[in-house]
Formats: sequence, structure tokens, C-alpha cells
Amino acid sequence: MKALTWQGKRHVSVETVPDPTLQAPTDAIIEVSSTAICGSDLHLYEVLGPFMDRGDVIGHEPMGTVVEAGADTGLQVGDRVVVPFNIACGTCTMCRTGLQSQCETTQVTEYGSGAALFGYSRMYGSVPGGQAEFLRVPHADYGPIRVGTELPDERYLFLSDILPTAWQAVAYADVSEGDTVAVLGLGPVGQFCARIAVHLGARVFGIDPVPERRALAAKYGVEVYEPAEDTTGTIREATGGRGPDAVVDAVGMEAHGSPVAGAAHALVGMLPDALGEKVMENAGVDRLAALHTAIDLVRRGGTVSLSGVYGGTASPMPLLTMFDKQLQLRMGQCNVKRWIDTLLPLVEDPDDPLGTADLVTHRVPLDAAPQAYEMFQKKEDGCIKVVLDPRGGVAGTDRRVEGAREDTVTEADRRADRDGLQPDAGERLPVTELP
Ligand SMILES: NC(=O)c1ccc[n+]([C@@H]2O[C@H](COP(=O)([O-])OP(=O)(O)OC[C@H]3O[C@@H](n4cnc5c(N)ncnc54)[C@H](O)[C@@H]3O)[C@@H](O)[C@H]2O)c1
Ligand SMILES: [Zn+2]
Ligand SMILES: [Zn+2]
Repeated sequence: MKALTWQGKRHVSVETVPDPTLQAPTDAIIEVSSTAICGSDLHLYEVLGPFMDRGDVIGHEPMGTVVEAGADTGLQVGDRVVVPFNIACGTCTMCRTGLQSQCETTQVTEYGSGAALFGYSRMYGSVPGGQAEFLRVPHADYGPIRVGTELPDERYLFLSDILPTAWQAVAYADVSEGDTVAVLGLGPVGQFCARIAVHLGARVFGIDPVPERRALAAKYGVEVYEPAEDTTGTIREATGGRGPDAVVDAVGMEAHGSPVAGAAHALVGMLPDALGEKVMENAGVDRLAALHTAIDLVRRGGTVSLSGVYGGTASPMPLLTMFDKQLQLRMGQCNVKRWIDTLLPLVEDPDDPLGTADLVTHRVPLDAAPQAYEMFQKKEDGCIKVVLDPRGGVAGTDRRVEGAREDTVTEADRRADRDGLQPDAGERLPVTELP
């Protein structure tokens, strides 16, 4: 089959790799119909290289159709499923308490990490990922979310990661009606965080340097700002001089605006794996601009909720301020399955209250993934969320997927018209036209 593989820093390529096979009665194989690129994939692309092996298949936001079902999965061939990015057993103490990202059955103890994840480096078990034609799903008796056949892929796809991630970030921020919340970073995760906080009745401030990301958030009632010197002061003024009740950091360790850590990132990328791993483990490599803004901005006694991923063990933190302001800090990988019962009715709601069908700017064939990674990282061509289609352009692609593509393009076009974005923003480009 064809799969997207990691080849080195900022270098991914589509290669032919062996088809996955069932290895346990709880495994299933799915044929992938849609598979998204995530901000977390950009960390593999850029800074987590020391933990990757050349040829690793990446990707952790897939959905598709079951083509082989192990005897103990309870799945049927033909089931349409979304696959959560955490691999969890569903029966251990952690899973039973809703901490599936800490599953005690799949924890990667060699690295002291939580639950194994699809396509996410040796630290998370080196499990082949979902940016591929087929995916082996371990613990398929628990993980896959069975969905209906009526709605297009994009309505369901984000249940695999960013929608529950955003829901958890907002839940951890303890947001209730009438609260004030700032969301730092309006990438795909931040967009959903902001929409969810609005949906729950909060007044929401969104901060991101990229104009079209601010424009998209503004459409959902978010008050948007560029990260600038006076932004914190302006938001503080707008919240009675105190700062918002909660701040969600949806940026993570590659924030813009932290030059010193930028040099550490470059260093880690240049070292041989063993040394690079040690530097990541022992040094402060995170670019902390967003996290430090969050701590500064939030009101005294407020909550900072991190969904952005951080990676260094000695990254400097302003503990004096955190202690003095009596802050609460909550964080972690999303426990995907914990939020599905809440989210499924929302994504299936005909009114699409979280705008799941209004996020994808580019749907491209899997073959175009290398160009798409570069475009997403550089935020070119109005790119906000990319979905890869492993069956793209293949004769016999089923009508449901065709339908999804039509919807995506139409919605993106409508948005561009409405918001005066550059005319081609959001258009699905054929491979050859990608930058
Ligand atoms: N906790 C989880 O389970 C989980 C799941 C998915 C993604 N994530 C993480 O969430 C983060 C966001 O992911 P994404 O897919 O939205 O990616 P993304 O890279 O598209 O989004 C990051 C956004 O932050 C903005 N930004 C950069 N520096 C900033 C600054 N100083 N202030 C304000 N905004 C700034 C960027 O312009 C970008 O729009 C990543 O760190 C990703 O790894 C975590
Ligand atoms: Zn992701
Ligand atoms: Zn478990």
C-alpha cells in the first residue's frame, strides 16, 4: 500500500510499504477514506526527529471502512469508523476513569510515556500511523467509533483528535456561561476551542498572528487579536482589569516569538538521535511564548489549560507568578473516548453547531502530502486544515467521499466570498498546483 513516511527533518515522502495484517483477535484493518494532518504532526516534522526512525508511517486522525475485523473486535466488515489517536484498552483503571491517554495496557514504559499513539515516534510506541491507504487498529474492540453513512467524512473525522482535544481543553478550563476565556493559537485546535467556548456561553478572545485564522474565528463570535505588545493589556481592560477567567494555550512548543528556544530546536534537529534524545530529555527546548502569555494574561485564581504539546523537561517556568497568582494549570493529551458521547450528537446535529464542515481548507490526494505538510507548516495559501484522501483520484471512489469533497469546496468558496479572503483560499488544489 501507499503510506506517508517520515524521512528526516522537514522531509516526508509517500512510499510503498507492506499492507498491514491482523496480529491479534482484537485488531481490525481499515481502508482509510480521510486522514488529516495535525499540528502535532508538525512537531514530528520539525523537532521530534530524534525520536523518529526513517520510514515511520505517520498520521493519527483517520477514518474509513473496516475491511478485516478480528474475531474479538465486535466490528463487521463494512462498518464506517473513526479511529481515536490514543490506543487504549478500555478496561484498565486509567481507561475506566476516563484517562484513556494514560492507558496502563498500552503505556510506553520504555520512554516513561502514556498510552501508545498512532504514528507518533518511539516515545509513543512506534505504531504505524493513519496517513496511509490501510491502517491496522490495535484494541479495535474498544477504540473505533462506529458512525452512520449519511453525513460526509468531514463531519465525523475530527472526532479522532482535534474536536475532543478542544472539548477537553475547554472542560479543563472550567468554562461556564458568562465566563471570559482567551484562546491562544487559532489553528484547527484553537478554532474548535474558541467555538466550543462560545457554544457554552462564554465571551471568547482569540489570539493568532495569521489573519485568515483570525477571520475564521471572528465568524464564530470570537473577539480576535494579533499577538502584540498591547494585546494582553487590551484584553485585561476588556475583562474589568483582571484578565480572563481562563486561558487555553492551543499553540504548544513551537510558538512564534521565542528566539532562544528556536536555537535549541535547531540544535536538537542537527544532533545524532541518541544525543538529540538526551537534549530533549534534559534541556529546556520549548518555545514558551504562548505559555508565558497565558500565565501573564489569566486573572488571579484563574485556570490555564494547555492543549498545545510541550516537550522539554527543563523549560523555565515563572513559578513565582504562578504561585502568587494562585493559578491552576491543567494539561495533557486528549482522552478521546471520554468525550465522544457528548460530541457525537453535536457533529450529527443538522445545524452543525461547532462548524465541523467549516474547517477544512484543502482536501488533496495522499500523494500530495509532502507539499501539503510544507503548506500547512508555512500557513500558505490560506491553509488551516488539510485532509488527505488516500483514494483521491482513484476510479471507483465511492459517492459518499465525492459528496464530501463537493461540500468542502462549496463551503470554502462560500466562506471566501463572504469574508473577502483571497479568492483561492480554501480551494482544493490538484497535486500539481500545490505550492
Ligand atoms: N493535547 C492533545 O491531545 C493535542 C491534540 C492535537 C493537537 N495538539 C497540539 O495543539 C497545538 C495546536 O495544534 P493545531 O493543529 O491547531 O496546530 P497549528 O500549528 O496549526 O496551530 C498553532 C497556531 O498557533 C499560532 N501561534 C504561534 N505562535 C503563537 C503565539 N505566540 N501566540 C498566539 N498564537 C500563536 C499559529 O499561528 C497557529 O495558528 C499543537 O501544539 C498540537 O501539537 C494537542
Ligand atoms: Zn492530532
Ligand atoms: Zn486502558
